[in-house]
Amino acid sequence: MAGIAVLGAQWGDEGKGKATDYLSRQIDYVVKFNGGNNAGHTVVIDEKHFALHLLPSGILTDEVQAVIGNGAVIDIVALFDELDQLKDAGVDDSRLVISSKAHILTLYHKALDKAKEHSLGSKKIGTTGKGIGPAYADKISRLGIQAADLLSDAGLRAKIQTALDYNNFLLTDLYGKPAMTVQQVIDEFAPYLERIKPMIKDVPLLLTNALAEGKTVLFEASQGALLDIDFGTYPFVTSSNTISAGIGTGAGIPVRSIDRVVGVAKAYLTRVGNGPFPTEQDNDIGELIRTRGAEVGVTTGRTRRCGHYDAVLARYSNMINGFTDMILTKLDVLTGFDKIPVCVAYKLRGKVSENMPLSLLDLDAVEPVYEMLPGWKEDITKARHFADLPMAAKKYVSFIEQVTNVKVSAIGVGPAREDIVVKE
Ligand code: GDP
Ligand code: IMO
Ligand code: MG
Repeated sequence: MAGIAVLGAQWGDEGKGKATDYLSRQIDYVVKFNGGNNAGHTVVIDEKHFALHLLPSGILTDEVQAVIGNGAVIDIVALFDELDQLKDAGVDDSRLVISSKAHILTLYHKALDKAKEHSLGSKKIGTTGKGIGPAYADKISRLGIQAADLLSDAGLRAKIQTALDYNNFLLTDLYGKPAMTVQQVIDEFAPYLERIKPMIKDVPLLLTNALAEGKTVLFEASQGALLDIDFGTYPFVTSSNTISAGIGTGAGIPVRSIDRVVGVAKAYLTRVGNGPFPTEQDNDIGELIRTRGAEVGVTTGRTRRCGHYDAVLARYSNMINGFTDMILTKLDVLTGFDKIPVCVAYKLRGKVSENMPLSLLDLDAVEPVYEMLPGWKEDITKARHFADLPMAAKKYVSFIEQVTNVKVSAIGVGPAREDIVVKE
């Protein structure tokens, strides 16, 4: 029995796609347990770029069975668009299983996401506009449509009607948008209904049997710990649990099935959307990192905010996730700087602390305390062993291990599949 978790340790876009691809060569199943097509995971194979949103990245590895768990929300049209785009990569419908308990993200969720963000004005979250928040809100208010509901036409219509009785009120009376009909909602995904039905299965049973047979199951998170609905920088978060504990509730397996918990973190830090970011570099340094790291969102095309590595946030992320090891990505992007600052503590109202402040207002007000590490000038993109790295790069990695108390097992030195230094 082997369960491996691959989780974002920061604000998303850490390189989970590449990390999953790297670990997928020895797995049988890959499971998406949270989020929807707000995610954008990149895998680069033979110079071809694949952008995965609703599908877990592991689906690109031959023979791997992909699973979407109950904790995810599914935009059916987006799902089949993505599946069809992967045809040339050898991916077909038979490679995907969907939990009967996964929630369906519909037309009204997308309209509500956009209307709500618009009405918030300058206080908006900066969501991806994919309908994620409203879909999870319906799930929690018990108005959601589950994948199993797609199996009965009459049942599906009744459920959508109940959800619309409430959501049309929001659309029309609160946001001044047109109301929707049940038929409109069904028409959007009707062309795919017969295709999705055979994929709907009992995922907890499937995974329990797989683990009992000694298969390896990789759980690939969407987003990162700092976007977690409970432990992230609320309200500037996504609407699901992105951390290791989310695997139990998002896939339906006991938490003790997870043997390895891999945190994926960039050697610096980025964020898309609004919210506090203590080490943000809204200046030439941030611009340089953005350009060198090609920091543009895979899902929305927005530029990512860039800043220095933050060990306070990293320790917090490790505390709630319990990482067994870390994959540190994009170390190559830091090549060329004379000195590289790492935030080791926060100063707030004259006091220095190594922990997260209690409130978001305080996180917004903290002043980072930096330790300066020496940079390196050598090209590291061809490095494949830890010994190949220049001394200063090795020291940078060791320093991060020391301040986070997590071992680095692999280091990303470029976007391609082979651009990786396996440390241990
Ligand atoms: P994810 O959402 O966590 O899967 O990450 P994204 O795909 O949204 O963003 C990570 C970006 O960094 C992608 O463009 C990757 O191709 C790229 N990437 C991943 N690892 C590395 C690395 O080690 N070096 C460089 N230069 N790029 C990387
Ligand atoms: P991956 O899986 C980075 C951010 C949005 C916004 C907030 C809420 O590629 O790491 P939502 O649409 O989820 O309601 O938006 O969360 N966000 C992400 N940021 N990477 C992601 O996914 C994200 N998914 C959502 O920018 O700030
Ligand atoms: Mg991403």
